[in-house]
Formats: sequence, structure tokens, C-alpha cells
Amino acid sequence: MTVKRIGVLTGGGDAPGLNPAIKGLVYRASERGIETVGLSDGWLSLLDPPFDPVPLERSTVRRWDRDGGTNLGSSRTNPFKTPNALGERIDRSSEVIANIEKLGLDAIVACGGEDTLGVAARLSQMGLAIIGIPKTIDKDLAGTDYTLGFDSALRNVTEVIERARTPAGSHGWVQVIEVMGRHSGHLALWSGVAGQADIILLPEHAFRYENVYRLLNDKLGDSTSHPRDPQHPRYSVIVVAEGAYAEDGELIIMDDRHDAFGHARLGGVAEVLSRRILSDTSYEARSVILGHPQRGGPPSPVDRIMGLMFGARAADAVAEGEFGNMVSSRGVAPACDLSLVDISMVLGKIDTVDVSRLYDTERYHLKGIGM
Ligand code: F6P
Repeated sequence: MTVKRIGVLTGGGDAPGLNPAIKGLVYRASERGIETVGLSDGWLSLLDPPFDPVPLERSTVRRWDRDGGTNLGSSRTNPFKTPNALGERIDRSSEVIANIEKLGLDAIVACGGEDTLGVAARLSQMGLAIIGIPKTIDKDLAGTDYTLGFDSALRNVTEVIERARTPAGSHGWVQVIEVMGRHSGHLALWSGVAGQADIILLPEHAFRYENVYRLLNDKLGDSTSHPRDPQHPRYSVIVVAEGAYAEDGELIIMDDRHDAFGHARLGGVAEVLSRRILSDTSYEARSVILGHPQRGGPPSPVDRIMGLMFGARAADAVAEGEFGNMVSSRGVAPACDLSLVDISMVLGKIDTVDVSRLYDTERYHLKGIGM
């Protein structure tokens, strides 16, 4: 089949790196004689007519490499579980396929995480010509070392940890910082290391309050009231992943609404932990949930490079008819090697922190790093 016209969409949580990927795709596709159109708000645009595909010329996307988020918009639409008029969630995947045909699209490039690419994998099994581009600040997709957005989020969280030191130091607080990542602790672990947090709590290993108190005591002693004694640390920073939970506790959710993929909104573990520190120790504690700004701002250099490369590689895959695949990277720019992997790899599994290799379960930190 000769591919002449393709549609690109972005689904799930936005992430810096998506717009560079679209630019990379459009530029390389045009070199290969393929026209690209943008589909707004993820899979939603293929379910709810009227359709409004945006023609993506080189001139349209020329400046997109600098933009955070996604200029195409995003949603958490699941065509396999979409509410009908009665509010029942039904399978509308055949409508997606029919609408792609109506739009005269020969193939789809879907940029997303486990949910968006999970839909892509299932549509591919139904015969749709599709290529995936991996994106999520959680960096938890199977089959690739890098997912767009992770490096920018790492930069954003590290900056906040840095800023949190000033008030914590001035007032002698234990500052608890809650970081995204749902069920994988990559972002919490590496931002905690980069920002030199004292304690890092991950979804992959249930923590013990007593151990947190012991670690605080090891650093701070009995008191934090030593403002003029440079030898005596008087504050501490704890980074906690939103999906972390205590051994005798449970996952803490913001509210019990679930999205179309069955995910609850996580959030609140930092507040629970800081209240426990306040009630069980003599330390003053404060908490902050970083929330969506973690995903905000312009893409980092790594996300720009990886986005442009992922997009271009996807265009080549389309031109060569290598459908049913996701672009994958071994390593991260500049030392990376791109290839294609079967997109069904993303179904039913996520990539989490390898606790036995990386995490010190006594010190709640990266293994083998002097603290
Ligand atoms: O998957 C990306 C992510 O940012 C997770 O880290 C987080 O749990 C979730 O999205 C938040 O969902 P929403 O963007 O719908 O609030």
C-alpha cells in the first residue's frame, strides 16, 4: 500500500516533547511525499463528528519544537469504553475505524502512554495501520528506555525541590513533596536523587512510618531549632510518589471517580505523611502536591531531541509500511539507538523501578549513593 495521507493524535496526560515529535513526523513525512493532518483531543476526534483534522504543513509546525504540552489537545478517551447517550460504556472502536476511512487516512500515528497506545495496539489487531510514539512523564511504558516528557518533568520537579529548601531551612521543617508517576516511581526516584532529597518513597516498596521517623532522627536529631549552627541540619526534604503507601496503609486517592481506563485520581499521600510526622514526632512538617505543573513548561533539550527523532522514525515506519509497531529507544539522547518494537508490548504491563537493583529499602534512597 502506498501511504499518501496520515493522521496524528496525542492522548492521555500531556507532556513536553509531543510537539517536537509532531514536527519531526511532519518534516520527515513531507520529505517522503506523505501529507499529515492533526486529529484533536486524542481518540475523541475519531468518535465525535464533525471532524476537524488540521492540515499540518511544515510551515504550521516549524516552531512547535519549543512548545510544551500538545498543540493538538488531548483527552483520556477510550473508544473501547465510551459512554453512550444512556451513560453506559460501550465499545465504539468500529466507529473509529470507519471514521479514519471517511477521512481518507491511510494510517494513524498515535502518541501516548499505556492507555492511548493500548488502544492503538488493539486497533492494530483489528487491522488498522498504526504506529505508536511513546510518551509519559511516568516513564513506565514497556518496550522502550525513553518516553517523551520524562526529562522535562525531572527538570521541573528537581527545580521545585531546590526551591523548597529555602522555606524549609528558614523555618526548620520537614518538607514532604508529592510527585506524579501513578504506579511507577521513576520520576520520584530520579528527581529525589537530583534534588538530593533525604528520603524517597516509591509505589514499588511499601514504607514504614517508624523507618521514616528513624531516618529523620538520624539527620535532625531531637530538634530543628539550630538556625545559626551550620553543623546541625535543621530541615529535611522527603519526596513521595503519589502511588506510594505505608505497609499498614493503603493507596491514597483524591476522589473515587475513575477515568475511561479505570484509573482513580491519586493524590494526598504527602499530606497524610506530614500529618503523621506532626502527630508522631517533634518535627514541624509541611506538604505540597506538585500536580500538573510537573508536566508543564517547554520541553527540555532531551525531550526536543527525542521528540524530533521519534517523530522522524515514525514517519519512516509509515513510509515503509511497518505498521503495528511503536518507536522505541535503547538509551537516551545523545547516546541512543532507535528501533521499532511490536506495539502489543505495551498491553497489560508497565515498567516500574527495579527495587532490588536500585532502591535501598532501609535508607529509602538510591542504592549505593553516599548520603
Ligand atoms: O500518566 C501521566 C500522569 O501525569 C500520571 O503521573 C498521573 O497520575 C496522571 O497522569 C494524572 O492524570 P490527569 O492528568 O488526568 O489528572
